[in-house]
Amino acid sequence: MKFDFDRVIDRRGSGCFKYDALQMLYGRDDLISLWVADMDFAIAPAIREALQKRLDHAVFGYNLRLPVFYEVVGNWVHQRYGFQIEASWIVHSPGIMPAVNLAVLQFTQPGDGVLIQTPVYRPFHDAVKAHGRVLLTNPLLCRNSYYSIDFDDLEQKLRLAKLFILCNPHNPVGRLWSNDDLLRLGSLCRKYKVPVVSDEIHADIVYDGHRATSIAALEDFADNAIVCVSPAKSFNLAGLSSAVIIVKNPALRQPLAKMIESLHLYLGNSFGIEAIIAAYRDADDWLAELLIYLQDNRDYLVDFLKRELPLLKLATPESTYLAWIDFRALGMGEDALLGWLVEKARLALDPGTKFGVEGSGHMRLNFGCPRKLLTEALESLKEAVRKEF
Ligand SMILES: Cc1ncc(COP(=O)(O)O)c(C=O)c1O
Repeated sequence: MKFDFDRVIDRRGSGCFKYDALQMLYGRDDLISLWVADMDFAIAPAIREALQKRLDHAVFGYNLRLPVFYEVVGNWVHQRYGFQIEASWIVHSPGIMPAVNLAVLQFTQPGDGVLIQTPVYRPFHDAVKAHGRVLLTNPLLCRNSYYSIDFDDLEQKLRLAKLFILCNPHNPVGRLWSNDDLLRLGSLCRKYKVPVVSDEIHADIVYDGHRATSIAALEDFADNAIVCVSPAKSFNLAGLSSAVIIVKNPALRQPLAKMIESLHLYLGNSFGIEAIIAAYRDADDWLAELLIYLQDNRDYLVDFLKRELPLLKLATPESTYLAWIDFRALGMGEDALLGWLVEKARLALDPGTKFGVEGSGHMRLNFGCPRKLLTEALESLKEAVRKEF
């Protein structure tokens, strides 16, 4: 390996949620922290060099994205997700969640239904409820811990919805929706004239040689989609607050862009812009090695649970560095389970109901960390389970 993903970097005191909020959120700070979705790896050297160069320039006025920005973003989404775009379709946002919230505000009215597929990333729920919209859910089907879409229910709910927020690939269940899934889903949204906000933030993290497809790459779905992409997960850049929103249809793009402009959210920060360019243009060798490392972590985790902790169940994630683990066989309620993990296994995981009621009895574990940490976490969990079950 050219890049060192084994190096353990002490993040405590850097002002990061993952470690510095442990005491506040979990009641103690001596935990192995595998909750919030960022990775414990240093960024790609190519991105670091680009940021260093920008820092050395030392003038940080208002930003204009130069043509190179549009070129590298266009190449990335075309090559990686099969979505061919034009520069003018890009709308700037400091993050994906600001854009998702603004889409809810722009395209729905208080009291309108907004549909999500649960269990799903908590801020999707909040983006609907915080603005007085009605949360509609299309719960995923689960068989042997493997999740799929309930299309009959989806169709019923789309009749009531004004907007659909899709998570592809899906956080937390790790599904990379197939082209077939996307075709069925996109056709139904078109039939019921429900625009799709497609959050594709995890689309670079795919395993076993698979490739993610943007919903907007299929049929004419781009006309009905607000596509959100970002290097934040795959290149570990969440703290640089940068995302790219791609909207082909002017009837959707113009009002969204106008709202973003009116709120002055489009300028971006100098480092975020440089980081996106460097990530998408100069760091694909780093990403390729990261994916090998993450896939090994994933396989290690799946094998470990099968071998050592057969009471706990999970389906092998096809995407994301997040494992969605079913703890129901331990027979504990969520609060008790969370407390037990903290006190007995010294682990900070994300509780399942954060992602919706369907998540009851589950925990989300982030394996985007050096193997040593993951090994320690799993050994600690094994000891705790063996002592008590
Ligand atoms: C599905 C999904 N969307 C969005 C985000 C956050 O994106 P941003 O920080 O750009 O708002 C996350 C972070 O975990 C996520 O998992």
